[in-house]
Amino acid sequence: MDVAEQGVAAVRMEGLTKVYHTGETLVRALDGIDIEIPTGQFVSIMGPSGSGKSTLLNIVGCIDSPTEGSLRIMGREVSRLNDRELTSIRLHEIGFIFQQFYLIPTLRAIENVELPQREAGVARAKRHARSEELLSMVGLGTRMRHFPSQLSGGEQQRVAIARALANEPAILLADEPTGEVDSHTSDSIMDILAALNRDRGLTLIVVSHDITVAGRASRLLKMVDGRVVSDVPAPSGCGPSEGPEGNSSEGGKEGREGREGREGKGGGEGREGREGKGGGEGWEGRGGKGGRARG
Ligand SMILES: Nc1ncnc2c1ncn2[C@@H]1O[C@H](COP(=O)(O)OP(=O)(O)OP(=O)(O)O)[C@@H](O)[C@H]1O
Ligand SMILES: [Mg+2]
Repeated sequence: MDVAEQGVAAVRMEGLTKVYHTGETLVRALDGIDIEIPTGQFVSIMGPSGSGKSTLLNIVGCIDSPTEGSLRIMGREVSRLNDRELTSIRLHEIGFIFQQFYLIPTLRAIENVELPQREAGVARAKRHARSEELLSMVGLGTRMRHFPSQLSGGEQQRVAIARALANEPAILLADEPTGEVDSHTSDSIMDILAALNRDRGLTLIVVSHDITVAGRASRLLKMVDGRVVSDVPAPSGCGPSEGPEGNSSEGGKEGREGREGREGKGGGEGREGREGKGGGEGWEGRGGKGGRARG
């Protein structure tokens, strides 16, 4: 059954705190974060350098653990999971995209996308077919056998997107996914991510310094010193001066939905008409949502 129908939040954090001890220094990277992110929401996180954005994303991605507080992913309390269950969440529920791509240089594009499926025990023929499909979806049908060093920055990031989607995650986390590419390439990467959110109901959390990137979300969180200081709807395509700054936390939850026609899953014409590149083709047909009921 579909978790969205059950009303389970994709991510729920309560009092989430992360303290780093380095020698004598103690850094409160996260200082009591309370946020709930419904399934299918597209959230962006902004904030100055050192405000805790990557720390937050890493903890949600289960590649780092909190010092205190509660984190639920798809309704499951992460601190109560054993190693095997944690690995399963990392492998199946969450896709991660990093600023520096982190592709494996000695593996071809398609092999990079196959890797997480191999770890998940997907049979060879199946993972090969799925990797081809994903690379075509991100517009790299003719680059599958290239090594990362033979690809442009934007192409490498698209391989990383395909890899992040390899095991059909429910939640996609992206830390500065457009930080290393030019603005045109940044647009096309965000088109792909926005289409995934819109067409497939993928929960999307994007950290970015760039308001043209962050403004694509329906909800904008701002962090300062390990705290969420603003939580507002982000009108799509907003510029720095148009952003709904200054509203207080928890503002406008209602207003968020619908703004992007999200409920029109698969329907939406509108700005997404641009997305073409990634090729919406075949994506909906994958049965993404239905396929989510794992366990
Ligand atoms: N592994 C670590 N050990 C000690 N301190 C850390 C560690 N990781 C992060 N920090 C500290 O935690 C704080 C938050 O870091 P974080 O990387 O989350 O910031 P950020 O908002 O992602 O910044 P940026 O925009 O520069 O990427 C910083 O002060 C940083 O120095
Ligand atoms: Mg960071």
